[in-house]
Amino acid sequence: MKTFVVGISGVTNGGKTTLAKNLKKYLPNCSVISQDDFFKPESEIETDKNGFLQYDVLEALNMEEMMSAINCWMESQRHALLSTNWESAEEISILIIEGFLLFNYKPLDTIWNRSYFLTIPYEECKRRRSTRVYEPPDPPGYFDGHVWPMFLKHRREIEDITWEIVYLDGTKSEEDLFSQVYEDLIHELAKQKCMQVTA
Ligand SMILES: Nc1ncnc2c1ncn2[C@@H]1O[C@H](COP(=O)(O)OP(=O)(O)O)[C@@H](O)[C@H]1O
Ligand SMILES: [Mg+2]
Repeated sequence: MKTFVVGISGVTNGGKTTLAKNLKKYLPNCSVISQDDFFKPESEIETDKNGFLQYDVLEALNMEEMMSAINCWMESQRHALLSTNWESAEEISILIIEGFLLFNYKPLDTIWNRSYFLTIPYEECKRRRSTRVYEPPDPPGYFDGHVWPMFLKHRREIEDITWEIVYLDGTKSEEDLFSQVYEDLIHELAKQKCMQVTA
């Protein structure tokens, strides 16, 4: 069994989790790992001079634990290969990793088979964020004082990246985003299959 790892990153409330869930429904042998599941407890989050908890930085995440989850998935695919017949050994297993800080985390650089980055404009992002309930809740001024500046920093950081990132317009409908990415992935997976055959 071969593996194919998809990264879905982008701005908070850009639609990463929604897109990943929709893809999982329609792609065969597909698992999802969500970066949001790896936040450190509040007691371990730094605070800045304005009293804002610094959640939107890599240090707020237990990335070692997330890497273990990814390695665990890789390992389970290897085991599946050992206990399977030759035919299903041809199949590709897909792992979608979705989260707001993926492509600036060096240890993952070589893992991506396809990378997507969802963006939405400032106003829309602020509006969507205000409708969500976070734990702990966003204090007044948090979006402009922490969330958006950290997103801009992150986006700048990934400008220098050497591999291809497909930028997605997060203001498109959920259905349109799904179709665009699904079709792109089917195409990429077919390319990978071709490479296996000719290798
Ligand atoms: N394509 C879309 N158009 C409009 N709203 C969307 C779209 N995708 C997701 N949403 C909504 O935006 C909010 C954030 O979506 P979510 O997938 O949780 O974003 P993220 O995981 O990037 O933070 C949710 O309320 C969701 O219903
Ligand atoms: Mg999410």
